[in-house]
Amino acid sequence: MNSAQFERALGTRRFGREVVFLDEVDSTNRWLLDNERRFHLVGATVIANHQTAGRGRRGRRWHDVVGKSLLFSVLLRPEKKCAPLGFLPLIAGVALGESICEFGECSSERLQLKWPNDVLIDGYKVAGVLAESISTGERICVVAGIGVNLWQTKEELPQEPRQPASSLDLLSLQLSSREGLLARILEELEKLYDLFQEGDIEEMIRWWSSFAQPCGTTLAVETDAGIARGLYEGIGDRGQLFLKDPSGTINEIYCGEILPEKRHE
Ligand code: BTN
Repeated sequence: MNSAQFERALGTRRFGREVVFLDEVDSTNRWLLDNERRFHLVGATVIANHQTAGRGRRGRRWHDVVGKSLLFSVLLRPEKKCAPLGFLPLIAGVALGESICEFGECSSERLQLKWPNDVLIDGYKVAGVLAESISTGERICVVAGIGVNLWQTKEELPQEPRQPASSLDLLSLQLSSREGLLARILEELEKLYDLFQEGDIEEMIRWWSSFAQPCGTTLAVETDAGIARGLYEGIGDRGQLFLKDPSGTINEIYCGEILPEKRHE
């Protein structure tokens, strides 16, 4: 990562203005959670060229190949009047979707957000978000960790039968610079974080839904209580997923994972 190029590309007020570049770290999320006191600005960002123990959702690992991904974490400090915290990973997904479409010159029809925040292009996962938090007395501090597959070859990507992965390069997106893409994501995230702080739930749902599958799509969602099947009916005011079961009951899912289509046919 070229820090001067990144700083030239950055058009934010706060996000990315306090920044740390690390060549190698176990996990940028872990590092930022442990070092959050060092930073004054919301949106402080730590970027790594390689993670030796990258963390993924639901206790999984997030693998990378040195220099072939974008790996970073952003410090957020939600204030009292903000929207429910469940929206933070969702807005990070939207920021990713917007920036990848624009910067990568990718039509928005190819890109979909898979609840809560996986970014799929042509059905392949190319990016993910892991939000982790700590509370220190009255204050809560959330770290939004983002990983984007940029230049991995097929052989370098993890074989994950649940959700096939790909990289932006393999999917023929334009990738002029990692610095430019990162700056773009931080700009979008700053904008959406303002909506979050203002508690503008409707606008966040509208943004997120513009990248989601259409209502009425059949889904199977793995939750701690088992697999829930039904029709997608949108998301609610705490970021939860609405799933209509065959009897017409709407179930609300707060934590889970949508399974790929072929597993529930
Ligand atoms: C997922 O499972 O989809 C979420 C993956 C999040 C990976 C990113 S990479 C940068 C940050 N640091 C981590 O340890 N994880 C996140």
